[in-house]
Amino acid sequence: MKKILVIHGPNLDLLGERETNVYGKTTLKKINELLTKLAKKNKVTLEIVQSNHEGELVDIIGQAKKNKFNAILINPAAYTHTSVAIRDAIAAISLPTVEVHLSNIYAREEFRHTSLIAPVSFGQVSGFGVDSYLLGLQAAISLI
Ligand code: DQA
Repeated sequence: MKKILVIHGPNLDLLGERETNVYGKTTLKKINELLTKLAKKNKVTLEIVQSNHEGELVDIIGQAKKNKFNAILINPAAYTHTSVAIRDAIAAISLPTVEVHLSNIYAREEFRHTSLIAPVSFGQVSGFGVDSYLLGLQAAISLI
């Protein structure tokens, strides 16, 4: 069975209580349940991780090919705008990667308008709340 690595970046563990006007009230646990349901329907396996630590994310991405993942679905959260290290890790493993954001990063503060991850991703889904994840997973499944 094909395997997709789902990565949630910093502060996404706080979804449901964090800036609910921007990110909605859905918890990360609920998002993961919805993703798992969609994955099962499409007969793919998911491994889901969340970390607030840049280096840990770099380690996980760097091992993704060795760990036999076929694609990555990632919400890099704040690291989207700052992390050359995560960008380089994605470039290094050359697995199809889909970037997702709950909010529309281009409609927010200027510092969020730049994604260092977008140029090394297959594509990006931004602004559809929980549906960004579901659309992103659907895209990742179609790629593999
Ligand atoms: C986010 C957008 C980022 O700018 C922000 O730092 C996040 C969440 C989103 O899903 O909308 O933490 O990636």
